[in-house]
Amino acid sequence: MCSVVGYIGKNYSRAFVMEGLARLEYRGYDSAGFACLSPESHRLLYAKAEGRLSNLAKKFEQTPIDGHLGIGHTRWSTHGVSSENNAHPHFDCEKRISVVHNGIIENHHELKSKLQAGDHVFYSDTDTEIVAHLFESLLLTHQTFKGAIVDLVSQLEGAYAFLVLMQDFPDQMLLVRKRSPLCIGIGDDEMFLGSDLLGFAGRTDKVLFLPDESFAIVTRDTIQLYDFKGASLPLNVQTVDVRWMDFEKQGHEHYMLKEILEQKRAIHDTVGFLHGASGQIWDLLGVSSDFIKQLHKINLMGCGTSWHAARIAQFFFEEICLMPARVHLASEFRFMPFFTETNTWYIAISQSGETADTLEALRMINSMKLPTATLTNVASSTMVREAGGFLLTQAGPEVAVASTKAFSTQLTALYWLAHRIALEKGIISESDLGRAEEDLLVVAEVLENTIENYKFDIANKWAKQYAHYKRAIFLGRHTSYPFAMESALKLKEIAYIFSQCYPAGELKHGPLALVDAETPIFLFSHQDELIYQKLLSNAQEVKARGGHLIIFAFDGQTELIELANLVFVIPRVKPLLGPLAMTGLMQFFVYSIAKELGCAIDKPRNLAKSVTVE
Ligand code: M6R
Repeated sequence: MCSVVGYIGKNYSRAFVMEGLARLEYRGYDSAGFACLSPESHRLLYAKAEGRLSNLAKKFEQTPIDGHLGIGHTRWSTHGVSSENNAHPHFDCEKRISVVHNGIIENHHELKSKLQAGDHVFYSDTDTEIVAHLFESLLLTHQTFKGAIVDLVSQLEGAYAFLVLMQDFPDQMLLVRKRSPLCIGIGDDEMFLGSDLLGFAGRTDKVLFLPDESFAIVTRDTIQLYDFKGASLPLNVQTVDVRWMDFEKQGHEHYMLKEILEQKRAIHDTVGFLHGASGQIWDLLGVSSDFIKQLHKINLMGCGTSWHAARIAQFFFEEICLMPARVHLASEFRFMPFFTETNTWYIAISQSGETADTLEALRMINSMKLPTATLTNVASSTMVREAGGFLLTQAGPEVAVASTKAFSTQLTALYWLAHRIALEKGIISESDLGRAEEDLLVVAEVLENTIENYKFDIANKWAKQYAHYKRAIFLGRHTSYPFAMESALKLKEIAYIFSQCYPAGELKHGPLALVDAETPIFLFSHQDELIYQKLLSNAQEVKARGGHLIIFAFDGQTELIELANLVFVIPRVKPLLGPLAMTGLMQFFVYSIAKELGCAIDKPRNLAKSVTVE
């Protein structure tokens, strides 16, 4: 999504803002812009460019604008096409107020009509521009700066985080937050502003996360924080450790490759962390041991890859804890009938901890005072702050838009959690939990070794061969069905190949009509004998119709292996962990196809890493 970065202080701002935007660019990359207050002319100066941040950087070669107060933005288009005109910052009529914004102003049509009727002239198609114009008119009618802000936020509907730089207030900047995150890094005679602290990692470890529905007036050495009614709020400054090092490619061609190859380490770290946290786990998760003992049902919520992890984990909770688990697609959740039940628990799963749909689902449950927790990869995320408790996957920063190590560590944590709940309920013993941890470490080894075994052939032979296909079908059963969904998502997302996924049993109910030699079928096997036999029949049905089969099979599944046009054989692991064992290889195969096609792997078209709008 969009990212905002700002600076106010003793140094010039542009280098910092550009560096911060570069770190956050993976979240949105349709256009970029920068505005600053010129120390010479005392006027707002700005530059904007369509496309990547590098296009904006080129503009500075001709016009090297800079100042001690600066704001910048990278955009993921929601309102208006990707163009220089729609790039932020946006301005009021007189170009005395500049705004960069992440989020959506939902009532912008209505506000825009009113402002246009009052002679305001708009230059872009964005919802953001109305903020600058509305603020311009409110500053004229209110006696105090604060009064104008309180009125401004009372009129804006939606989710937003914005920075405002004003020519007439040359010593301060305004930050406003509702639902979208915003934070301030406190330096020595300087303040770093951003939609994510990653924007200023390494500059300071003192961070103020703006509470929801608050605004801050910031100078180089002061912060005044208010709620939306204008009442003062205390400054809850936290010390946060963010290592920028973790965000570098470390010699790999793409972040996605680096992150695929880090999975063994990430799984080990996650198991190690959970093992160490086992004694305090219910405190961390914001529930009691008694609550877990009484627990009748678990609800998992997420989007995209996190939703797929939840779909696989459904089997963990049902088969290990012997209780029903329900998985909710967070983007649909709030629009479905809701039935309150006792002894249920809601867990929001999200790599970023910021996905708007998942966050809103979490907020809905919180508002009903039902128990919630989040499983996320980002300790400083909004979900961590708002959920009743949290568990952190130890994947380390995931930069590529396509989720890889976040997925495998989510599966790891959920498998562990299912065992830990089963232990609390007396279904399994302490040594069973220890064995589950060992099983996870074995799978981490398998995941890495299978990539190693096949990587030469994939990179040099098969990626080339399969890059020519225009579409693909993905099949699985039981846990391998949601895994097939995840695999299809990966292929669409980074290689732009149309991919359709079905539970293999559904094949004969329609999709079989699509089978031809031009549509490879990815089939993901299972170690359960009954499920394997059913998958084998499905593979035979495909073969009998001249279909082309790419099979991920387990050791010893000879009949299935013999049907394949291309086969990857994976060592046997605990059956429920089959998807985790296949994860690295599937990701590497898809990555290699996308590379062969010359796709923008880390930043696929139209997508963003952190989807902070609904
Ligand atoms: O940060 P989250 O896990 O909440 O993100 C959810 C999805 O947007 C995300 O998994 C998306 O589907 C990935 N790009 C898939 O690779």
